[in-house]
Amino acid sequence: MNPDLLVDNSRPTVAAPALRTKAELRAALEPARRQGLRIGLVPTMGYLHEGHLSLIVAARDECDLVVMSLFVNPTQFGPGEDLDRYPRDEERDLRLAAGAGADLVFAPPAEEVYAPDSSTAVEVTGSLISVLDGDAARRGPEHFRGVTTVVAKLFNLVGPDVAYFGQKDAQQAVVIRRMVRDLDFPVRVEVLPTVREPDGLAMSSRNAYLEPSDRERATALSRALAAAEREARAGSLADGLEAARAARAAAAIAPEYLEARDAETLDPVERFADRPVLVLVAARVGAARLIDNVLIHPDKSDT
Ligand code: PAJ
Repeated sequence: MNPDLLVDNSRPTVAAPALRTKAELRAALEPARRQGLRIGLVPTMGYLHEGHLSLIVAARDECDLVVMSLFVNPTQFGPGEDLDRYPRDEERDLRLAAGAGADLVFAPPAEEVYAPDSSTAVEVTGSLISVLDGDAARRGPEHFRGVTTVVAKLFNLVGPDVAYFGQKDAQQAVVIRRMVRDLDFPVRVEVLPTVREPDGLAMSSRNAYLEPSDRERATALSRALAAAEREARAGSLADGLEAARAARAAAAIAPEYLEARDAETLDPVERFADRPVLVLVAARVGAARLIDNVLIHPDKSDT
């Protein structure tokens, strides 16, 4: 796919209609539900980029009605994180969403989503949410509890047949898949590839925090992952991680983590067996905390 086509100013500049309340959303979806149309949901926190738009395009392709949610979910931000300064541009988002094929945007205020005395959460327990970003020294398991709670609420509100997520947030995708399986949500979860800038940097709303010099250094993360994948395919996973560490160190970026994990269980892995492996990296670069990963399928074993 040519990403240039997605943010195309020649596309109609109409905005997707923004629905502010759950009642408006239910009313807007009712006819589609009655007619048995296939509903696709793309949950986002806005400040859209080509990564988000690729999910909308996929939903447009497969579904009759495409709903995007635009909600900077407070419960997934810890104290001291960037909730207050998270980038926002709703007017632009509504236009881009419509251009990529969204029919409706659910963009509620926080008080519409969470009752003041809201006291229920949805939590995937165990190591899936306490490793990597879920480590207490990083974002912590509360981050994923906030994600699964809001995604469960969105599933209940929209009742999608298919929900679209990005591989960019690999751990989030694994956690959501587990929630859907364990709680029998009647929704198919599609996880689509990471969309990158031409120099390899994974697209992210948080890239807006990068100063030009940091922006340049940030490309070391995707280079490190590319090196890991190359070496892992050619030789061993250990060599792959070693190559990734060297690429990252050359850019003077200290990672929070750089690890190989089983793509479904997130257990640490030392070597390829017969299961897909994720190599994941997180690092602070300037004012931004960036994450990226590569999914390596075991068409080559290093035994
Ligand atoms: P947000 O960071 O806005 O991302 C919305 C969706 O876009 C997620 O599924 C994310 O994985 C995907 N995405 C982000 N960058 C991408 C890229 N470069 N390529 C492909 N997909 C990309 O993730 C969230 O919001 C929130 O946690 C949310 C799921 C909406 C719950 O609040």
